[in-house]
Amino acid sequence: MGASQLLQTLLSILNLCSRAWGASDEAYGTLFQNYGIVLFRGFDMIDIYGPLEVIQFAASYRQINVSLISETMNVVTTERLSSAMNPMNSSVWPTLPPTHTFETAPVPDVLIIPGGPGMRSPDMNRTLKYIAETAPKVKLVITICTGSGLAARAGIMNGRKATTNKTSWPSIIGYGPNTTWIGHARWVEDESRYPPVWSSSGVTSGLDLMFHFVETFYGADNATFISTIMEYERHRDPSWDPFARNDTVTR
Ligand SMILES: *[C@@H]1O[C@H](CO)[C@@H](O)[C@H](O)[C@H]1NC(C)=O
Ligand SMILES: *[C@@H]1O[C@H](CO)[C@@H](O)[C@H](O)[C@H]1NC(C)=O
Ligand SMILES: *[C@@H]1O[C@H](CO)[C@@H](O)[C@H](O)[C@H]1NC(C)=O
Ligand SMILES: *[C@@H]1O[C@H](CO)[C@@H](O)[C@H](O)[C@H]1NC(C)=O
Ligand SMILES: *[C@@H]1O[C@H](CO)[C@@H](O)[C@H](O)[C@H]1NC(C)=O
Ligand SMILES: *[C@@H]1O[C@H](CO)[C@@H](O)[C@H](O)[C@H]1NC(C)=O
Ligand SMILES: *[C@@H]1O[C@H](CO)[C@@H](O)[C@H](O)[C@H]1NC(C)=O
Repeated sequence: MGASQLLQTLLSILNLCSRAWGASDEAYGTLFQNYGIVLFRGFDMIDIYGPLEVIQFAASYRQINVSLISETMNVVTTERLSSAMNPMNSSVWPTLPPTHTFETAPVPDVLIIPGGPGMRSPDMNRTLKYIAETAPKVKLVITICTGSGLAARAGIMNGRKATTNKTSWPSIIGYGPNTTWIGHARWVEDESRYPPVWSSSGVTSGLDLMFHFVETFYGADNATFISTIMEYERHRDPSWDPFARNDTVTR
């Protein structure tokens, strides 16, 4: 890394810290232009489309590119991993085509890791490797729902605090050795080291996290504008959590 690149990186880090802690910096939003969303079989739809909905509106005001990144270019289905997880033989499995593979994707500024039943698959080594190798290169990691469990499986949650889907709580916290799991939180921001990791609770909580993200980095007007279009009443307090667990667990 050249001296000027190093300086740039340090400035980005300082910039992020001051911004995240409330200082204003109009130029900051330009740092987040590329988003990468990890796709895997058995993803939760809202974990992906919720954030995408918000980002797509934000993209009216600045250039934003989103990559949907998976092992191969094959369409990715929400279908459960085994027929045992589909006892009624239902067929309600929308698909998403990736835009990139783990090999071809540009390094994103923001890495978004969704959850869903598929995050428990034993056959995810390439996905875990991608997350482990990519997270240190991005400016912010965002996990939605059980995505924090996937991030923990990839080994990037040690020493972090995080939250997750409260219904899945008992099984997910086991994936995170040395993670402080916050049982009462709509979302959690860990800024203990770079890059920060922001994690949301279950499914729809990802919307509140994304609006908080837009407000923090793109401005309150944009956040209000987008939530109004979506006719969505935001929960702005990260400690608002009617689905809370009683326990905060450090493992
Ligand atoms: C976004 O994608 C467009 C079209 O491919 C490209 O011209 C542009 O450079 C990309 N922007 C960023 C910030 O990567
Ligand atoms: C689902 O399919 C399995 C295997 O073909 C069959 O044994 C089972 O009876 C089916 N269940 C329903 C609810 O249709
Ligand atoms: C949340 O947890 C419940 C209970 O484990 C699970 O059924 C559900 O699939 C989880 N949701 C997601 C999106 O992972
Ligand atoms: C995945 O990685 C684990 C741990 O490194 C290893 O034990 C397992 O054999 C790997 N699975 C596959 C399918 O390569
Ligand atoms: C957790 O932290 C302890 C103490 O710092 C360390 O010995 C251990 O290796 C860590 N575990 C993992 C999985 O990183
Ligand atoms: C959104 O943010 C952009 C860039 O800061 C600004 O130009 C635009 O006016 C904002 N739009 C709204 C509706 O707040
Ligand atoms: C939390 O504690 C209350 C009071 O003891 C109990 O009724 C409730 O079931 C607990 N909730 C969970 C998710 O453990």
